[in-house]
Amino acid sequence: MATYKLLLLPGDGIGPEVMAGVQTVLAALAETGLAHFETEADLVGGSAIDAHGKPLSNATLAKADAADAILLGAVGGPKWNGVAYEIRPEAGLLRLRKDLGLFANLRPAICYPALADASALKRELVEGLDIMIVRELTGGVYFGEPKEITTLPDGSKRAVDTQVYTTAEIERIAHVAFDLAGKRSGRVASAEKHNVMKSGVLWKEVVTAVHARHYAGIELEHVLADNCAMQLVRRPKQFDVLVTDNLFGDVLSDVAAMLTGSLGMLPSASLGAVDARGTRKALYEPVHGSAPDIAGQDKANPIAMIGSLAMCLRYSFGLGEAADLVDGAITAALAGGARTADIAGDGSKVLGTRAMAETIAAEL
Ligand code: NAI
Ligand code: MG
Repeated sequence: MATYKLLLLPGDGIGPEVMAGVQTVLAALAETGLAHFETEADLVGGSAIDAHGKPLSNATLAKADAADAILLGAVGGPKWNGVAYEIRPEAGLLRLRKDLGLFANLRPAICYPALADASALKRELVEGLDIMIVRELTGGVYFGEPKEITTLPDGSKRAVDTQVYTTAEIERIAHVAFDLAGKRSGRVASAEKHNVMKSGVLWKEVVTAVHARHYAGIELEHVLADNCAMQLVRRPKQFDVLVTDNLFGDVLSDVAAMLTGSLGMLPSASLGAVDARGTRKALYEPVHGSAPDIAGQDKANPIAMIGSLAMCLRYSFGLGEAADLVDGAITAALAGGARTADIAGDGSKVLGTRAMAETIAAEL
């Protein structure tokens, strides 16, 4: 059996607590014989600032580059509010994404049957919901130049951000979305604003061309991003794979997140390009942050982090059976009534981070 090298970057706040949950699950997974891992842990974010004066050391970046996949907890917290902008904890995470070329951000929004009443929407709208948002992560308005604030002759100011996309950038994210859809329902919705943005015109044109050339069996629908936000709240189950740019993806994935209950439930994957050996750089992390308000109290929900491990098994290593086992263990633990405080209803018994991870490991 292949041995995979995992770099664990627990980070700050609840990061180390939920990462410990991953280690509990990895130990149980090793016993199944389905997968074998070598893990190494290192610092990122505030903990790295404390140790080396910057949020991501070159040595850590080199380890990230050499690893088969990276699992990251969360970075940041009030302790580092005063540090310079360039070396703030989040800069470590942004550098990892940028330097490793992690252009495809996959954010599933799944509503577990046991939690359908925890959603912001009515049960019948979200029960069985399973959407995969594919967000372009290294281009668009967050990175385009010029990006500046200048002072006008009258002393007032002018701010500019620039939305830039090239054919190649749109093609590669479209391929990720269509490939995923082929393994799911076979449906892709692409969201942009071609009615008011040139980048939207190109986005629609390129996605249409990629579809026509390579994915005849997949159904493609174009939807305007603002209408998409409305549809996500009105009738979310109409979507399966939803592909969109960096800015719209940021907003739409947060909307989708709230359909499912708690931030503590949501995993993510950030993938790079497939190289000549057929492998790709990849980082897996929960959507949530370091939750300073509950850090160190054994209260954090480890499911987003453990779900990120399941995505890692599936997308980096093709270990679908092991991934299904982890996802199934999460579903079974929830069905059995296991709840951390963030998803507990009235009268349910509340588990701590460790006990929730152990319950999932036992189900596995
Ligand atoms: P947050 O996601 O850390 O917390 C928001 C709320 O959700 C809090 O009430 C928290 O207790 C709760 N929450 C989050 N994860 C949870 C979990 N696993 N289980 C139970 N409850 C959970 O966002 P916030 O408070 O805006 O940011 C806190 C720090 O985290 C900041 O320094 C921020 O910059 C950083 N951050 C880091 C991210 C990352 O590492 N990718 C992403 C978002 C924020
Ligand atoms: Mg966001």
